[in-house]
Amino acid sequence: MRRITVFRLCFCAWFLLSLPLVLAPSAARQPSSQPKTDIIAHRGASGYAPEHTLSSYRLAACMQADYIEVDVQMTKDRKLIAMHDATLARTTNAETVYPRRAPWRVNDFSFAELRRLDAGSWFDTRFAGERIPTLEEVIQMLKAEHVEAPLYIETKQPGIEEAVVHLLKKHGFLQQRRVMFQSFHPESLQALRPLIPHGIRLIQLVGKKEAHSGRDELLQQIAIYADGIGLPLSAVTEEWVRAAHGRGLIVHVYTVNEPHDLARLCTLGVDGLFTDYPDRPGRIAACRRLLRH
Ligand code: G3P
Ligand code: CA
Repeated sequence: MRRITVFRLCFCAWFLLSLPLVLAPSAARQPSSQPKTDIIAHRGASGYAPEHTLSSYRLAACMQADYIEVDVQMTKDRKLIAMHDATLARTTNAETVYPRRAPWRVNDFSFAELRRLDAGSWFDTRFAGERIPTLEEVIQMLKAEHVEAPLYIETKQPGIEEAVVHLLKKHGFLQQRRVMFQSFHPESLQALRPLIPHGIRLIQLVGKKEAHSGRDELLQQIAIYADGIGLPLSAVTEEWVRAAHGRGLIVHVYTVNEPHDLARLCTLGVDGLFTDYPDRPGRIAACRRLLRH
């Protein structure tokens, strides 16, 4: 049983109690010998808390996600932050705080300027005052609260690899049981390979357009430098999974929230599911026997 700090226990209890009963933790799972399907908390538990906030990551840990996904970008003053969008308008109050700084591109702002923004109210006023966390703050929270779920870092822009690796090394996170990398940018994964110890996995994300053209050539290329692929839900078929596994590539699928999709993918035997609701797969019979916890 994973260690849990008092603080996180209280947070989990408070949060799970505030959710409708239907979302209560799922029935006990029967251990099975089948290959496991990892549950990846997409931007944290972003179905229940504002994406890429400490609350979202903490809740993902409460729900025993196998990985916590963090999209990483760099600010104007080279600070690594957790943020999905290239602009601030959707998930912060940047338009109000900086009315004359359109289009509010993340890397047009210093970290001190970003720190003034509210990254929670857009989702729900219960999260008013949540801040955009740095990658270092995310790591420090996981360490302080004994969260063992590894980070699943997506480099959103090429060129930040050395800074990310340096920070992970500084905190003892540059090891297979603590981190996995993904990117839509092949050059970013190729830059990471020589910087990281053997065993840490690199996952090439495939966009919708690429996923619908030339599967075998694409897999042949990816197999040269990566350990797996990230496929969009709309493209996943038995053939894709078999072809990727046939080349020794693991298959992760994004973003899977609906019960019928979760059941279909668990039946297909994919290796991992990105979901905004990390507690849902546990209530899907077809997934339950494939889960680690
Ligand atoms: O990394 C999987 C998935 O997160 C990729 O899409 O746009 O949510 O980062 P996006
Ligand atoms: Ca992502």
